[in-house]
Amino acid sequence: MQLIDGKALSTQIKQEVKQEVDSIIASGGKRPHLAAVLIGDDPASHSYVRGKVKSCEQVGFESTLIQHGADISEAELLQIVDDLNQNPEIDGFIVQLPLPAHINELKVTLSIDPKKDVDGFHPVNVGRMTLGLPAYLPATPYGIMQMLERYKIETSGKSCCILGRSNIVGTPMSILLSRKANPGNATVVLCHSRTKNIKEIARNSDILIAAMGKPNFVTEDMVKKGAVVIDVGINRVDDPTRKRGYRLVGDVDFEHVSPKCSFITPVPGGVGPMTITSLLMNTLKSCKKEIYKD
Ligand code: GUN
Repeated sequence: MQLIDGKALSTQIKQEVKQEVDSIIASGGKRPHLAAVLIGDDPASHSYVRGKVKSCEQVGFESTLIQHGADISEAELLQIVDDLNQNPEIDGFIVQLPLPAHINELKVTLSIDPKKDVDGFHPVNVGRMTLGLPAYLPATPYGIMQMLERYKIETSGKSCCILGRSNIVGTPMSILLSRKANPGNATVVLCHSRTKNIKEIARNSDILIAAMGKPNFVTEDMVKKGAVVIDVGINRVDDPTRKRGYRLVGDVDFEHVSPKCSFITPVPGGVGPMTITSLLMNTLKSCKKEIYKD
């Protein structure tokens, strides 16, 4: 069994991004600039956005944080998005989700210029990804594709079971792994709450991606010997022995599943750290006009 070390891989990718930034600056180019819009006081959102801003500093990006209380109106937020769309200094930006209930998230997502949509949530980017055209890929799927590629894990002709059909993980993962590309060319089954024979599908799959947000859902009897297991879950479970009162566990029962695997991602330190690097890679691509040429 080999561990896929997301923490080490993300550190390596950040170093690569930093080197590219240094060479852009050395040749007189513009420093990549990411903006984050943070609304309200959700502690998890604050923590994610802090991580994103800190990572920008580590790789030499400029970053701007725009913060407002939960009482901001939808019209005010749409004005902020429009200003960021128009601002030539900003290469890419994200509006951290979830938004307060009185704001329509879809309306906000649709108002973001696809050329600056480094989250890859805008339907234009989702559509381009689906057609195999250059697109900003959403952070978690992009991070998983990087793991598969850099650990040289064969996906072509393999059977792949994805647990969970969310718009930001399961569904895009199913599209990316079935594309005619490398990584890709896998035969994908996308499982969800109405799937009848999840256990059977899972244990017959060469690659298993767990992204349904249920702690320790994937048990040893659901995993084929020699399978590649990617655990996207980040679940808080109570743990009075820890100072903060909880610990993080994935969707996979790591202790019992890992001995059967050829490769497995741990939680924490697996998929999680890769998501921020995806955002940095997308912002660098935007600055270099790699996805949209003009
Ligand atoms: N909330 C949780 N994950 C994400 C993400 O990747 N992007 C944004 N904008 N909000 C999130």
